[in-house]
Amino acid sequence: MAIRSLAYIRVESPDLDAWRSFGTDIVGAMLVPGGDDEVLLRVDDRPWRIRIEKGETNRYICAGLEYPSEAEFKDGLAKLDAAGISYTEGSYAEAKARHVNGFVTCKDPSGNLLELVWGNIADGTPFISPQGISRFVTGEMGMGHVVLPATNFDATYAFYTELLGFGDSDEMRIHVPGGPEKGLGMKFLHASGPRHHTVAIAEFPAPSGLIHTMLEVATLDEVGLALDRALAAGTHLSSTLGKHTNDKMVSFYIRTPGGFDLEYGYGGMQTHDWSVVTPTTTIKEDLWGHKWDFGQ
Ligand SMILES: [Fe+2]
Repeated sequence: MAIRSLAYIRVESPDLDAWRSFGTDIVGAMLVPGGDDEVLLRVDDRPWRIRIEKGETNRYICAGLEYPSEAEFKDGLAKLDAAGISYTEGSYAEAKARHVNGFVTCKDPSGNLLELVWGNIADGTPFISPQGISRFVTGEMGMGHVVLPATNFDATYAFYTELLGFGDSDEMRIHVPGGPEKGLGMKFLHASGPRHHTVAIAEFPAPSGLIHTMLEVATLDEVGLALDRALAAGTHLSSTLGKHTNDKMVSFYIRTPGGFDLEYGYGGMQTHDWSVVTPTTTIKEDLWGHKWDFGQ
């Protein structure tokens, strides 16, 4: 009855060309043929993991969160029903366009739009990176993670843990000048798969709708090469290279054309038996590095 992984994200943008070049030249994702009003980016054997849809605003639309089976999907919907959370069932055509067998849309208590999905329509096309990336680390761990704004923090935490089946991996309190004495909360939540966190929620707003999403590559060199490509292209570096204390990810952050950040990392912690894990509270966010520049 628990979400296993992040299936995909959807983004809106008036500038599909900016996303095309960001996705292929910087990220190293593969451009997939799609309609004139969309850009589809592939990073593994799924038809796409990031869909950018032509629209008026640069913004994040939603995340697709994946149940491992139809039975668990149905159990999940029963939990939403019991809690009085409303959702809308996607049509056959909409599901096909998301390469899933079925899905519903709903909102978490902070207003973040979600698509809860099950199944995978495979198209049998191999992933070939235009930047020579060997592979992105996905599989049973899904696309990566999303860090969502959650100003209605406690109810949002309860929604992900009690209704969607997420568990605690780590908690942080972020102390900012003029902010609350106890700091602003961040909860890092694991799905049933091995990734350290598939969703994190943060007690602060994000104008683009998303704080960041994360893609993981298989080697440190591929992180360094992506950093070189971003710097050469003049992409805004939101954070220098660093290593997180909680998930041990070595990563940097760049600003996407959508206004949110992309964490590009390597070496994230994996846990195959969550029953033996004691959640941590991190009081120093990074082992080293990760100097932030939120400007621009
Ligand atoms: Fe992250």
